[in-house]
Amino acid sequence: MQKLVLASNNAGKLREFGQLLAPLDFEVIPQSAFNVPEAEEPYGTFVENALAKARHCARLTGLPALADDSGLCVAALGGAPGVRSARYAPTNAGEPKSDARNSEHLLNTLVGYQDRRAHYVAVLVFVRHADDPQPIIAEGEWHGEILSAPRGEGGFGYDPLFFVPELKASVAELAAETKNAISHRGKALRLLIEKLKAA
Ligand code: IMP
Repeated sequence: MQKLVLASNNAGKLREFGQLLAPLDFEVIPQSAFNVPEAEEPYGTFVENALAKARHCARLTGLPALADDSGLCVAALGGAPGVRSARYAPTNAGEPKSDARNSEHLLNTLVGYQDRRAHYVAVLVFVRHADDPQPIIAEGEWHGEILSAPRGEGGFGYDPLFFVPELKASVAELAAETKNAISHRGKALRLLIEKLKAA
């Protein structure tokens, strides 16, 4: 079985990748098992950040690596918080990032806005090794609306605020399997798997 390191320390993402990759012929190991520290994410696009994370992880482990850079893009905010989704709320130096504060900051920013359209984006990058000149890249989107108050207990990040009109529910109200079947990450991963099989 081929080993693959997941370049993320985000518990929510790791749980979803574990569920999504379970049926595959890969031994999936989180980068924490190799004490890989989080990579810098200094770039302005999801794909650049995902590539940087995948290369960093492959370099430190010597194994193929899969990274995800994802976020929430709000139409009325010109795509913000975007690549800054994990660190959207202003913090004091040294303060850790917080899903709860990010969500509160988003709600405050959107007070008075009629246009609540938003979408999640996930860009996945797989590298066979740190200097792989031909990374495999896949992207998924999931469109919805930002609620004016949180609903539900499941998921992570902005899920209690992200309303899925077709299901009349927030993502935090969905079962994990339902989210995985239609989410940005699920779509991107299924695409990536097709590309991996064809490579
Ligand atoms: P990064 O990819 O580690 O830079 O962070 C992605 C951030 O985007 C997360 O910390 C969440 O704030 C947000 N995000 C990405 N995917 C999801 C999701 O499926 N649900 C909720 N929030 C998400």
